[in-house]
Amino acid sequence: MNKVLVVGSGGREHALAWGLARSPSVGEVVSAPGNPGMAALGECLPVEATSPDRVADVADRVRPDLVVVGADPPLVAGVVDELQARGHPTCGPVAAAARLEGSKKWMKEVLASAGVPTAAYHAFGARELDAALAYVDAMAAPYVVKTDGLAAGKGVIVTEFIAEARDAVRAYLSGEAFGDAGRTCVIEEGLHGPELSLFVLCDGRDALPIALAQDHKRAFDGDEGPNTGGMGAYSPVPAPVAPPDLVDEMMERAIRPTLAELRRRGAAFRGFLYCGLMLDPVKGPRVLEYNVRFGDPECQVVVPRLASDLYAHCLESADGRIETKVVLDDVACVGVCLASAGYPPGPDHVGDVIEGLAAAAAVPGVEVFHAGTKLVDGQVTTNGGRVLTVSATGPDLAAARDRAYAAAARISWPGLHYRRDIAAQALP
Ligand code: AMP
Ligand code: GLY
Repeated sequence: MNKVLVVGSGGREHALAWGLARSPSVGEVVSAPGNPGMAALGECLPVEATSPDRVADVADRVRPDLVVVGADPPLVAGVVDELQARGHPTCGPVAAAARLEGSKKWMKEVLASAGVPTAAYHAFGARELDAALAYVDAMAAPYVVKTDGLAAGKGVIVTEFIAEARDAVRAYLSGEAFGDAGRTCVIEEGLHGPELSLFVLCDGRDALPIALAQDHKRAFDGDEGPNTGGMGAYSPVPAPVAPPDLVDEMMERAIRPTLAELRRRGAAFRGFLYCGLMLDPVKGPRVLEYNVRFGDPECQVVVPRLASDLYAHCLESADGRIETKVVLDDVACVGVCLASAGYPPGPDHVGDVIEGLAAAAAVPGVEVFHAGTKLVDGQVTTNGGRVLTVSATGPDLAAARDRAYAAAARISWPGLHYRRDIAAQALP
């Protein structure tokens, strides 16, 4: 039986650890640093997940058969490179390929070279303020300004107001808003339409589609309020939200050309690749961005649908030879993120005891994935903005949704809030 080390501590990593623990070939799941939900699956070891040396030291001690790295900061920092250098089979891209998420400018260059449909753009450096402002002046609304580097999901402004776009360009390029991450910025054409996430598994050469999912990024019902890391997701995405041939089309027009271009650049991609799509009704599907990892909370609604062996998929990706067919159960999954008061941007308060976890998990088809939680005196308490994802499978989206909300209603702490309309727009 095999031992797996999962690196990370969010809801996505809990779902990956849970999916790996269900594999018939996995005997032990160790997490670093993990969270209280992951601790129920196996040992958790403290680690600074963005330090390649510290993570590799943990792997040297654990001696896993496979390491799975869940989040972008460790991937961009080169955690996979160090793990591989020390002989640990690892699912995830090396830093050279993780640059796809680490630098938006580089990602757009890769997309352009590969001929992938994406928003028209121009990148500007710190000394090109005047040119950047002139580019904004020549655009039509909506204006889209992005930091080149990672900014914890906050580096993108989409606005109808030119003054706001100009202010953002100034704040980014001066370093005032996001430090070095913003000193280069990407200004791009505004697109319209629903957004979807396509997940594929790559082995450096080829990719297998896993599933489509849809996230809900705004804080409040009806897509109102500020952007968040994601307030809930569902999968599959039925027509008419997603046209039936969308996955095949994007594999052909986006994923395969991108992988070929990455190889050409000496940055072969292994691991989970997240293709963020916008279905513009006029221009057609466009790649908004790539992320070099599974989505959070999308992972929490895709892994529960997986019938094939997640361990086999991850190991084959790590070894550079994907073979096992990805098989999904004929079920739908809906995940609702439960957040603390004050999120976004951050929790007003942490340390509240979370009531009702066992009662929620007792609803059929439900798994509760932890993110911002902490064990204090044997009790699970809140410890972040997004605290839990309540995921439920069911024979269709409506059934899955009913179960997810029935379970969410059993959980409480002071100030808890969540969206009531996850997956609502996809119901018949
Ligand atoms: P990103 O981090 O690039 O995915 O951008 C964050 C969010 O900004 C996306 O999820 C979209 O909702 C929005 N966005 C990004 N690029 C565009 C664009 N070109 N047009 C319209 N909205 C966009
Ligand atoms: N769900 C959005 C993300 O993972 O980036």
